[in-house]
Amino acid sequence: MLVLGVESSCDETGVAVVDASGRDIPRLLAQALHSQIDLHQAYGGVVPELASRDHVRRALPLLEQTLEQAGLSVNQLDSVAYTRGPGLAGALLVGAGLACALAAALGRPALGIHHLEGHLLSPFLGDDPPQFPFLALLVSGGHTQLMQVRTVAQYELLGETIDDAAGEAFDKSAKLLGLPYPGGPHLARLALEGDERAFKLPRPLLHSGDSDFSFAGLKTAVLTQAQRLGDQLPMRRADLAASTQAAIVDVLVAKSLAALDQTGLRRLVVAGGVGANSRLREQLERACAPRGVRVHYPQLSLCTDNGAMIALAAGMRIQAGLAPSSTAYAFDVRPRWGLTELSH
Ligand code: KG4
Ligand code: ZN
Repeated sequence: MLVLGVESSCDETGVAVVDASGRDIPRLLAQALHSQIDLHQAYGGVVPELASRDHVRRALPLLEQTLEQAGLSVNQLDSVAYTRGPGLAGALLVGAGLACALAAALGRPALGIHHLEGHLLSPFLGDDPPQFPFLALLVSGGHTQLMQVRTVAQYELLGETIDDAAGEAFDKSAKLLGLPYPGGPHLARLALEGDERAFKLPRPLLHSGDSDFSFAGLKTAVLTQAQRLGDQLPMRRADLAASTQAAIVDVLVAKSLAALDQTGLRRLVVAGGVGANSRLREQLERACAPRGVRVHYPQLSLCTDNGAMIALAAGMRIQAGLAPSSTAYAFDVRPRWGLTELSH
């Protein structure tokens, strides 16, 4: 069972193929990725129309590259999956258009996959795959959610951000510090040289007793500190970066621990771009190890958007008997789409 996956929801075009034969975890055979970071950098954020056009340029060459790497020809594919949402409408349509056209030409099913399902299942492609059930902390540029995962397609939302996402908090704070887009990794690097106790920043909703997050106030606090520093800012940038990162990470760790206690789950999966943050990884490890909780991550290269996680999610759905076998190509995209709508 060879499944192709196409990801184009935001600023990465990703194509991958997995082998989902039998009952074993699908195996990644090949993948190709193009990041648009350079394209959007001059604008300080993703420009949707430029993103769509670049997906159009990249998708087919990446498909050819993936098939060549896997040593496969296109008509060996059994199923073609694509990110159906959430994401930028125009960008999603490129991947959906390619996948559905290809599936129709081959007479194979096309599968629209939820982007966040891809992220939360992505650790299954790593060396240390989790077992169901687990708690998932989804931390990306657009989402911050705690999810109870019973098995494939059984997701219960425990809480989420009421305003900015964790990645957005990193990116917006980084911008205030004059760092390039996307700021998360740059801020994390700068934070290594700073003192996290230098500035007292808020930890919003830390003790709210639920699993919701809020990061908008933190960004305002970083802005206020930056303004207060004025000419001093260049000398104190690393300290402010370290303090900001510590505030974001503290909240993510505390909320994850509270959700683990509440659900009694013993495994935590951390997925999405912010899952690459090494401070978050250290703090989670430190807090979870003594509680006997295992923390699982996707391999570093699969933390940010990629086609492999979409092919994987499709493969796992097929194995679970949840994928439609129909070849009716009514392709549509869902720019706004809640993950819990998938639960059956
Ligand atoms: O999952 P992702 O690639 O795209 C979305 O679906 O949003 O996540 C991108 C986000 C960006 O906000 C980026 O700044 C953040 O992940 N990010 C990081 C790190 N690497 C990526 N944030 C903090 N530390 C990092 N090392
Ligand atoms: Zn993502």
